[in-house]
Amino acid sequence: MSRTTMVAGNWKMNKNYQEGRDLVKSIVERLQPTDTKVVLCTPFVHLNSVAASIKDISNLYLGAQNCHQEASGAYTGEISTAMIKSVGADYVIIGHSERRKYFGEDDALLAQKVKAALESGLKPIFCCGEELSVREAGTQNDLVAEQVKAALFDLSEEQFAEVVIAYEPVWAIGTGKTASPEQAQEMHKHIRSLIADQYGAERADLTTILYGGSVKPKNAKEIFGQPDVDGGLIGGASLKADDFVAIVDSTL
Ligand code: 13P
Repeated sequence: MSRTTMVAGNWKMNKNYQEGRDLVKSIVERLQPTDTKVVLCTPFVHLNSVAASIKDISNLYLGAQNCHQEASGAYTGEISTAMIKSVGADYVIIGHSERRKYFGEDDALLAQKVKAALESGLKPIFCCGEELSVREAGTQNDLVAEQVKAALFDLSEEQFAEVVIAYEPVWAIGTGKTASPEQAQEMHKHIRSLIADQYGAERADLTTILYGGSVKPKNAKEIFGQPDVDGGLIGGASLKADDFVAIVDSTL
């Protein structure tokens, strides 16, 4: 068995309903057959229509960008993991730095969300990554270790096998400033060694670890070429079909 390569698009809060339909149509038209798993993480209102558009395409999957930690109840405005699963999604992003920063999501809450996702049969794409000040202080490895351990290391081996990790240095998100391939490789290797300590070398070797932060068609190949980088979580460039598909093609 070898680990899965993946390119996931995080649309964030972009595209109205019709624009979303158009974008998916363009992506489907351009995508070549590939072993790379391609995941479209759309706003909630798009999930149903995107599910219908991609249902016959074998390497294309659907994901949400957030979920609530409770199974159901009086949580006005929230969306449960079972609801997300019921429209045909297989993935959910959990712990994105924008949710940590703007919505106060902390490690304890994220651990609950990860468990809720897994209980509904969704695979978490768990995001971790340091702010610029942490990178400047040189303590990024400790911070990322804390994030990963707090949210994921209470899981059983079976549960952990469903998790995808995305390393997204906050200073590289939407800034045009990418981590260098060496910086990405160093952190991915560190994350993989944490997994090896907790779940064994074989599981570590099988875990998909994505890089996110200003990935573009022009830099994707070099970043994805690093031995511990298994693909990317793409923000801005996932909103343009040509760019997104070019990034997927850089994994071929
Ligand atoms: P950008 O690709 O726009 O930097 O965003 C990265 C990201 O946050 C993906 O989740």
